[in-house]
Amino acid sequence: MAKVPAVKLNDGNKIPQLGLGVWQVPDEQAASSVKEALAAGYRSVDTAAIYGNESGVGAGLRAAGVARKDLFVTTKLWNDRHGYDDAHKAMDESLEKLGLAYVDLYLIHWPVAGSAKFLDAWRAMVEMKEDGRARSIGVSNFTQANLEQLMASSKVTPAVNQIELHPGFAQRELRAFHARHGIATESWSPLAQGAITKEKVILELAKKHGKSPAQVTLRWHLQSDLIVIPKSVTPARIRENIDVFDFELSEDEMAAIDGIKEGVRLGPDPERFGK
Ligand SMILES: NC(=O)c1ccc[n+]([C@@H]2O[C@H](COP(=O)([O-])OP(=O)(O)OC[C@H]3O[C@@H](n4cnc5c(N)ncnc54)[C@H](OP(=O)(O)O)[C@@H]3O)[C@@H](O)[C@H]2O)c1
Repeated sequence: MAKVPAVKLNDGNKIPQLGLGVWQVPDEQAASSVKEALAAGYRSVDTAAIYGNESGVGAGLRAAGVARKDLFVTTKLWNDRHGYDDAHKAMDESLEKLGLAYVDLYLIHWPVAGSAKFLDAWRAMVEMKEDGRARSIGVSNFTQANLEQLMASSKVTPAVNQIELHPGFAQRELRAFHARHGIATESWSPLAQGAITKEKVILELAKKHGKSPAQVTLRWHLQSDLIVIPKSVTPARIRENIDVFDFELSEDEMAAIDGIKEGVRLGPDPERFGK
């Protein structure tokens, strides 16, 4: 079974470098996808309150029979819960649905353009880390300006910023900022929501290595020191996406993928996305 490397976070905890994403997976289907993934060797699952599938994820985790200490569960605080008290309540609701006493990583899902309320949410999250409901805390979709504002207001630097990132939308400046401040970068939509399977450079490398375009793309993320959470509900793809530890891309091949023309983002722009 695949052995996924761990990445050490700035608070000393470790996160598997590859996990399963479950955005757009219906609650009824989440349990079987999570169970399938755990059987294939995944130990990390990325969900969110807004995905509406925390109950299904929790059921899948329990069904797989893997010890809690070996799992890494991420969930996220939605945009309408940024108030200090509300954030505390939202965390309890997520834990209840997941059927867990703690999550391994709790993220502020979006900064919410035009509001500084994420600072209140962060204050609550620092307490959640202290009281043990979240082992690590971080953010998602934060710009450099959002991060600077948060870090100026708190002694606790986010462990992770989970951002849209795939070949052709590589977020180099933000990654360099993360590296300077010890924030781990986690790539969402790492396969560009499937579109990466049509990219010429990726297709050529896939043929050369006898691997799939998704596998080549996931190697690029891993060799770029990114944490990656591909989503699939298809059992064969769930297995394929973790079967990426028996080959390597050369420096030239990495450079070829780095050279893919910068395109546009697929998801919302955090500078505009609000409630
Ligand atoms: N923080 C945020 O704001 C945010 C935003 C978006 C996503 N995310 C997280 O990131 C995760 C991944 O992002 P994503 O779901 O947007 O997109 P993604 O992982 O880039 O792509 C998922 C799509 O690719 C297909 N796919 C998966 N494996 C494949 C393979 N081996 N070959 C060909 N196609 C394949 C899937 O199809 P099937 O499922 O039909 O197999 C699905 O349509 C999410 O699930 C979520 O956990 C976070």
